[in-house]
Amino acid sequence: MSTPVKKVPIHLQSAQNRLLIKNGKIVNEDGMIDSDVYVEDGIIKQLGRNLIIPGGTRKIDARGKYVMPGGIDPHTHLEFEFMGATSVDDFYQGTKAAVAGGTTMIMDFVIPRRGESLLEAYDRYRANADEKVCCDYSLHVAITSWSPKVKEEMTILARDHGVNSFKFFMAYKDMYMLRDPELIEAFTLCKNLGAVAMVHAENGDLIAENTKKLLAAGVTGPEGHEMSRPEEVEAEAVNRACVIANQVNCPLYVSAVMSKSAADVISAKRSEGVVVYGEPLASSVGVDGSEQYGKDINKGRRFVTSPPLRPDSTTPAYLIEQLAQDGLQVTGSDNCTFNSDQKALGKDDFTKIPNGVNGVEDRMSVVWEKGVHAGIMDPTRFVSVTSTNAAKIFNLYPRKGLVAVGSDADLVVWDPSRKRTISAQSHVQAVDFNIFEGMEINGVPEYVIVNGRICVDECNLKAVHGYGRFVDTPVYPLYVYDLVNDKEKRLRGVPRNEADVGKYADEDAAILRAKEAARAAAAAAIANASRMNHTNGNGNHDSPRSKVSSISCTPTLPESAVFTPSGKGPRLEGQRNLQDSTFSISEDTDESRKSCIRVNNPPGGRSAGGFW
Ligand code: URP
Ligand code: ZN
Repeated sequence: MSTPVKKVPIHLQSAQNRLLIKNGKIVNEDGMIDSDVYVEDGIIKQLGRNLIIPGGTRKIDARGKYVMPGGIDPHTHLEFEFMGATSVDDFYQGTKAAVAGGTTMIMDFVIPRRGESLLEAYDRYRANADEKVCCDYSLHVAITSWSPKVKEEMTILARDHGVNSFKFFMAYKDMYMLRDPELIEAFTLCKNLGAVAMVHAENGDLIAENTKKLLAAGVTGPEGHEMSRPEEVEAEAVNRACVIANQVNCPLYVSAVMSKSAADVISAKRSEGVVVYGEPLASSVGVDGSEQYGKDINKGRRFVTSPPLRPDSTTPAYLIEQLAQDGLQVTGSDNCTFNSDQKALGKDDFTKIPNGVNGVEDRMSVVWEKGVHAGIMDPTRFVSVTSTNAAKIFNLYPRKGLVAVGSDADLVVWDPSRKRTISAQSHVQAVDFNIFEGMEINGVPEYVIVNGRICVDECNLKAVHGYGRFVDTPVYPLYVYDLVNDKEKRLRGVPRNEADVGKYADEDAAILRAKEAARAAAAAAIANASRMNHTNGNGNHDSPRSKVSSISCTPTLPESAVFTPSGKGPRLEGQRNLQDSTFSISEDTDESRKSCIRVNNPPGGRSAGGFW
């Protein structure tokens, strides 16, 4: 089913449909260039200097600022009915807040009510969101039970409704949780549909047991939440999900990575060749979970989310480091906001605190502050983990997640020299507190352009109710399924003859020894590469500036960056072909730029294992 194109009202056209962003530094995942950007009718039309543009075009001076792909938040729960409450940021307020923070696309989760079919739930979300969203959005669908009907509906959703990702809960026993045999079948179906399996990874049985014990022991405060589901309960489920996905060769996306041990599992599995992506959150890279153990019980409840924020204060920095090193790939928000009075539903029993925290508005700021401003990642990696990698995994690239001719004009002009302080007093979200309260951010989204329209204009929010569109996520994302298919091609047996029995004992032993030596060498090389990635060769950490200069080694600026649809494969009428598009540079700087990219920043990040 093709998505109906929403008509832009006349009053939003005219003056808004042409825009020139001048003098900025364009940041993509693979490098930075000084270039102007010309936008018309919601699409990037030209890149370069001295562009010929129509008179009357609105101009923005971005000197000293970064021009980046708008953020993509792949994990929100707007107006979600959950644990006896409905999250207070609805599709209007939530997407408005997203735009205020530099995010130009969100991905929410269809989670069916008890007894509701997947298709009914999907229609309910569409009807609700389509008319309210201020920016583009897509939908993942949560699979909260398992039956032949569910399988059939998953197939229909993937084929006809623009859904390429399904989420499975390994927690929330007796509510959403699926068991291993169901996960095996479900992941197999995802693989057969060309979809991505997503997991909420926590061991639901252990949580249920621990909860009983804690309540019986009189532990009722918010600390009970984290105590009932400690790190290893998360890490165990992450490991199990990776094993199941790998065995059926299904790509896996781990939502909400909240602990060091969970991150370690993902990073190790990637080094082994498992096609898995890890998503820490604005919350888990921004704050720790110590407030749940504090004396202020009201405050403690505000930090309750699942998997929990960890009391280990070194967790946020560790997760940021993993993002920088490509142990983890994407940042989401898991924005699921409940007001203080809703959180008080659990005042006598931590199991009744509606789970969830804010983040959709502040995700970009928090990652910038803790990552780029702190000197741990450069702006190109910031773009990867806040936008491009999500676009690639969910098959939105290069329409989204890229500043290039032909891409959607979803852009953020980021001023690294301005500061702001996060506060519930000034935030756009509906929720009455902010878990990042008081955090100072060095960098602000000065302009945010959504589909070519300036929705944050010199820091003034001008988001428009209903301006966003639903965006199909087609199955078989190239960047994911190339890896899955590669792994399948590698499956080969050993050619043998009856006559060979007993003949090759020495050779076999030698092969085994050689394999072992190769494995050890590869492990050493990976460890070394990961050290080199983060040091300047003298064992010292690179500053972001020095990384920037090594990445921007293109001697001449490209005139334009273009993605050209090749016309291969079926295409719906009026829809640009994204899958077959290639990003190309139209000057002879092509080769030097490509080699520079290969050395310094391979597409998809600096993975030691190179798994894209
Ligand atoms: O605690 C959270 N994050 N609430 C939303 C549901 C989920 O677990 O993602
Ligand atoms: Zn969630």
